[in-house]
Amino acid sequence: MPADVVLGLSYGDEGKGKVVDYLAKNYDYVVRFHGGNNAGHTLVLNGHRIAVHALPSGILHPHINNVIGNGCVVDPLQLAKEIEEHGGPTALKGRLFISHAAHLITPTSINVDRATGATVGTTGRGIGPTYAAKMRRTGLRMEDIINGDIEVWDTFREVCGIIEPFICNTQNLLHTAHASGANILLEGAQGTLLDIDHGTYPFVTSSNCTIGGALTGTGLNHKAIRKVIGVAKAYTTRVGEGPFPTEQNNDIGDKLRKVGGEYGTTTGRNRRCGWLNYSDLRKACELNGVDEVVVTKLDVLDQFKMIPVGYPNGLERIQYSEWNGWNRPTKGLRDKTLLPQDALKYIQHISTITRAPVTHISTSPEREDMIVL
Ligand code: GDP
Ligand code: IMO
Ligand code: MG
Repeated sequence: MPADVVLGLSYGDEGKGKVVDYLAKNYDYVVRFHGGNNAGHTLVLNGHRIAVHALPSGILHPHINNVIGNGCVVDPLQLAKEIEEHGGPTALKGRLFISHAAHLITPTSINVDRATGATVGTTGRGIGPTYAAKMRRTGLRMEDIINGDIEVWDTFREVCGIIEPFICNTQNLLHTAHASGANILLEGAQGTLLDIDHGTYPFVTSSNCTIGGALTGTGLNHKAIRKVIGVAKAYTTRVGEGPFPTEQNNDIGDKLRKVGGEYGTTTGRNRRCGWLNYSDLRKACELNGVDEVVVTKLDVLDQFKMIPVGYPNGLERIQYSEWNGWNRPTKGLRDKTLLPQDALKYIQHISTITRAPVTHISTSPEREDMIVL
């Protein structure tokens, strides 16, 4: 039975959380495989907005086994807070599993990140220093909680007891689940252009957000992967520093921010806003071997007369092709026959860029507001 992977195709915040929450009904496991609480994934159910940072986005589904894989970094204080927010240890018993090999984000790592992260514009959650310690082979891991490591228990005394019962060998767990026919959804965080190797270095995060991270961060091998689902926002946003060739640092960007509610889920920062970039989107699909694409936030473009898509012209400049706006509300639409012709043309254009079919279009933050094509 297959494992499918959801990955962000841009600079993060593509709407991966909503997509995972929507798809989760078809799966038994939802697995985070990299990153930590730099992520902010928003789930909206019957008007209630829930943001998850450390927990996987399957957490609202009682039938889902939620796994925090070995490739993740975890702030025990934040994780314990989220466990409490979701009903406490008793409520999550038997449906939350944390890898013994996931690394611990310490208060020192957070302080170092806050003191040094400004050039990149990090989230200040201690991500970079924690992965640096992992690579230096001096990191602390979840298994140190089980082993009663004095430094770990001293640092996280009030929450070790909450977290300890959830720690296990998730590589074994996932192999067994896979072999017994379970359906597994691997949930990417951040996005392709923030990948430590393939992103806009040094303005990136400290983990592999691309397909390789799904294997190293879980222990599943490539034969377990059935399909890669890329999530693309209908336009582009970026939070933090770094290049953004199609950025609209003007009234248009302000309008995208306002209509799209583009303020960071984790830090509350204004997200920088702009148009799609043909070459970045094409590259992201090539890097990840994307099989299917979900386009999110189409409704945000309802109010735009023209929708440009950026192309590099070879001189490090961007030129734009323009697509007609549809000037009709698509917000909340679930029926593909009601999709305006011009919106469909824009979606078709996206699928020529991605060279993979667009299978779903998200039309609002609400879980079930999704068009299936
Ligand atoms: P993630 O990090 O990729 O999970 O994305 P975030 O949750 O950080 O940011 C996406 C934002 O867009 C959240 O506020 C979502 O509730 C919202 N969102 C997701 N899909 C849609 C959509 O189709 N339309 C609108 N208007 N908002 C959406
Ligand atoms: P989700 O999963 C958007 C950005 C930060 C910064 C850079 C490095 O919600 O899509 P870090 O704290 O990781 O060292 O910061 O990466 N960044 C994100 N941007 N969405 C995220 O996660 C992000 N996680 C990190 O803004 O530019
Ligand atoms: Mg986010």
